Amino acid sequence: MAEKKLGEYFSEEKGKMYYPSSSFVDNARIKDDSLYREAEKDRLAFWSKMADNLQWTKKWSRILDDDNPPYYKWFIEGKLNVSENCLDLHINNGLGDKNALIFEGENGDSTSLTYNELLKEVCKFSNALTELGVVKGDAVTIWMPMIPEAVITMLACTRIGAMHSVVFGGFSPEALKDRIMDSKSKVVVTADGAYRRGKVIPMRSAAEEALDDCPSVEKVVIVERTGTAYEPRKGRDLLWSELIKDTAETCEPVVMDSEDPLFILYSSGTTGKPKGILHTTGGYLVGVKSSFYYVFDHHEDDIYWCTADIGWITGHSYIVYGPLSNGSSTFIYEGTPDYPARDRFWELIEKYRVTVFYTAPTAIRSFMRWGEQYVDKRDLSSLRLLGSVGEPINPEAWIWYYEQIGKEKCPIVDTWWQTETGMIILTPLPGVTPLKPGSVTRPFPGVEVDVVDDNGQSTDPGQKGFLVIKSPWPAMLRTLYEDPERFEQTYWQQYPGLYFTGDGAWKDHDGCFWIMGRVDDVLNISGHRIGTMEVESALVEHPSATEAAVIGKAHEIKGHSITAFVTLKEGIEGSDELVQELKNHVTKKIGAIARPEEIFFTYELPKTRSGKIMRRLLRDIAEQRDLGDVTTLMDPQVIASIKEGYSEKE
Ligand code: WTA
Repeated sequence: MAEKKLGEYFSEEKGKMYYPSSSFVDNARIKDDSLYREAEKDRLAFWSKMADNLQWTKKWSRILDDDNPPYYKWFIEGKLNVSENCLDLHINNGLGDKNALIFEGENGDSTSLTYNELLKEVCKFSNALTELGVVKGDAVTIWMPMIPEAVITMLACTRIGAMHSVVFGGFSPEALKDRIMDSKSKVVVTADGAYRRGKVIPMRSAAEEALDDCPSVEKVVIVERTGTAYEPRKGRDLLWSELIKDTAETCEPVVMDSEDPLFILYSSGTTGKPKGILHTTGGYLVGVKSSFYYVFDHHEDDIYWCTADIGWITGHSYIVYGPLSNGSSTFIYEGTPDYPARDRFWELIEKYRVTVFYTAPTAIRSFMRWGEQYVDKRDLSSLRLLGSVGEPINPEAWIWYYEQIGKEKCPIVDTWWQTETGMIILTPLPGVTPLKPGSVTRPFPGVEVDVVDDNGQSTDPGQKGFLVIKSPWPAMLRTLYEDPERFEQTYWQQYPGLYFTGDGAWKDHDGCFWIMGRVDDVLNISGHRIGTMEVESALVEHPSATEAAVIGKAHEIKGHSITAFVTLKEGIEGSDELVQELKNHVTKKIGAIARPEEIFFTYELPKTRSGKIMRRLLRDIAEQRDLGDVTTLMDPQVIASIKEGYSEKE
């Protein structure tokens, strides 16, 4: 039935399309295109209706303030608290005994917290933070493994009005230091260590230097996860368990203005310095609550698992705030998919009867390579919906995911969005949208997206261009922390009135969007954003290097891998040892995800006459393509010598 109506939007001209099964559609929250129509008719009325699903202490007086672009404000004068919306609201609705958070550790230890229990833990830690002097508007940095305390800390911050800044646990202590400095956090919450593939990775002792160098840090709270030793700093370091021992189990949520800051999340841009992306309270929660509900087709009895880390936006919006604001049960896992064996994820889906599973294409490509035998021995019949995020999914991986994991009965929602957008922007609605492997289909209701050419004109079907968002949406970033100039420059100056995403894309004749990836100097390594400049700055900090150019080379599993071209100081010879040293140096500065896969030494880098490094040429060399036009090159000889060096290594 629903299939017919959809003919209005889709035709079969582009390869095979996949329709939701009638049993999926029968039970889906949304079965037809009415939501799209409603939003098209009156976008702001649609968002206002979405906002009505939240609990407001005081209702807003105006939906959108667009008087001073690009500084948009949503739900003006509205008052609310995010933790209250994620916890108290459901308890008051009778869901107190429902599991809110289900956790399994790498070693197989597990815990679950009902909404009542989670509220109690959040209140205890909120009170502890208050005792430590954290007040509304302060920043708290979280550098932790994927354990319940990480989620508890995030919610506790929101309860007392503090901004959290979660730093991915895999980032190096030096990267942590830069982010603590930028946010001027008073309190850092971390753990003694983390479990990773059967090993213990020290955290608190590794962070020693970073913490010592940050003048803003007054207190460090340490969760005892692994029992790893460290030198406690008297007067500054405190144990989580000690802190919450005697604190009260209730805590009145602080009333927040809709536009009060909720969190900062650092993300890579085109310069060496990460951007502090700032999200605020009301609009963000409206965006993630409504998108979670419709995109993941929220059902009360779902066990929802998003495999991201809380250190990324996906972890913020679709492990914590989206699921919990809807009263869902969100599952978190501490470890990796291949430990102790390559069926670990499927084992967990079987054990917890996971119904909705949201992961990244890089993981799917690894699963494919490992083979079906790991999947086949597990019962995945609980699954009803699959999701993908972080990078373009190649049709081959899409079909494998659909057939092997979803057993041809689970729709796949391929969701495009960014740290900046806060919420999912392009996505199918699973009971409605016919799927095309590789396409993110269409904008979420209430969001206006387009592809434009160099002049900002809408492109024709099939014509490649830049992905832009044409009008404000509630969960949009408000600014870059203490850097409004960079905010305006990065997102709003390319095309007046349009938000520039930095991605290339095209539309097909059905109005479906196809994402091609970044058009700027940002790489996508296993679904994680790394700026080429970040890696280059790390490389040139090494005493032997004078200059470096970093490019992303197409990689079968990771999407991109990092190749670096480095020129050395006079008198220094390149060697295998130096390659290792430079790789380790980058790992130390940024973290293992930024470690170059290959490093080449060259006497000079190819530059244009105006001195810009021609990364395109380096990319062509690394991927062994024809070099095309080199007429703007200052010294064509350089290319010949790099090519030579490259082929020697291969
Ligand atoms: C890419 C992650 C294709 C894109 C939520 C974007 C995608 C960047 C998809 C944001 C997708 C994300 N298909 N590309 N479904 N999802 N991307 O900020 O290049 O870590 O700009 O947010 O990831 O990465 P970020």
